[in-house]
Amino acid sequence: MLWEVGIVGIREYRLVALPGEGVGPEVVEAALAVLAHLATLHGFSVRVTYGLVGEPAVQQFGTGFPEATARLCEGADGILFGAVSKAGLLELRKRFDLFANLRPVRPVKSLRHRSSIKPEKLDGVDILFVRELVSGIYFGPSGRGVDGTAPYGFHTMQYADSEIRRIARVALQQAQQRRRELAIAHKENALPCLPWTRLVQEEAAAFPDVALVPMLVDNLAMQLVMNPQQFDVILAGNLFGDILSDIGGAIAGSIGLLGSASLNADGFGLYEAIHGTAPDIAGKGIANPMGTLASVELMLRQWGEGTAAAHLAIAQEHLLEAGYRTADLVASAEDRFVNTKAFTEQLIQQLTNSKANQFKS
Ligand code: IPM
Ligand code: MN
Repeated sequence: MLWEVGIVGIREYRLVALPGEGVGPEVVEAALAVLAHLATLHGFSVRVTYGLVGEPAVQQFGTGFPEATARLCEGADGILFGAVSKAGLLELRKRFDLFANLRPVRPVKSLRHRSSIKPEKLDGVDILFVRELVSGIYFGPSGRGVDGTAPYGFHTMQYADSEIRRIARVALQQAQQRRRELAIAHKENALPCLPWTRLVQEEAAAFPDVALVPMLVDNLAMQLVMNPQQFDVILAGNLFGDILSDIGGAIAGSIGLLGSASLNADGFGLYEAIHGTAPDIAGKGIANPMGTLASVELMLRQWGEGTAAAHLAIAQEHLLEAGYRTADLVASAEDRFVNTKAFTEQLIQQLTNSKANQFKS
């Protein structure tokens, strides 16, 4: 009955793939090929089911986030998300209460010439954005109306204190596992009814080893561009976090490199690159899958597959060091231009080779 031991021992995950629109399907396909390979190399298995979201869902169901897709996601171990221009994503985040959006930014050595930051200011930069994702101005009361004859519109930045407190706890936990410094993006000089600083300070009583640095968000944005080395974890509400994390793209060298995890209180998550649908290059097979792969890395860590996650990260760095570049990263004649498919094949090759050496299980 030895074979039963093997079956009991295998870790199996159910993943829902939501490719979406634009370059979404291309980068998801690439990431799934890599994930399948990692699973084989590291002894786990992934069952993938596909669902519709965004424009393709609108065409078939009349809504960007159909109920059928929601059902598919229920009880899964994760969602791998491609990209959508808008339709469906906010509903999806809300439906599963994915309030904690983690966006790490760790510039890779071989791409430092692409960064908008001076090379001497890039050493050791390692930032984690913790963005609140299911409340604030994205979800507050909104509408359009007519005042007399003058049309107007409004979106309301509304937060329950409890919503700020729960994302604060996530950020504090993350900071505790890192360099123990938490910057709080706020705008209390103009928006005093949203007292992020006080609420985070109160939650921080349970994290006495974490230093808090409250910063007005406008100043924080400037500091991020001038001296990103000063930051460890940055906590922000939904809108500020959206804007600040794009600066992370400029720091890393391309928005195409960054991944994210959006988690709920149970640790269930949606994993997506932070770039958009890139309609200008969609369908050409040249999209950079590294943002989605960075998201896969976060997913693997969340699943407890840390060795596979590290393996993936190291293999990607190796490819970049060897000069392989997707279109968004090509800078000089020495760069080896690869399309999405060739990059994926190279990466799988690299994973296989490196497994044989340092990654023996
Ligand atoms: C992001 C995107 C989304 C957001 C858009 C597509 C609604 O910009 O995930 O950063 O603003 O949250
Ligand atoms: Mn954004």
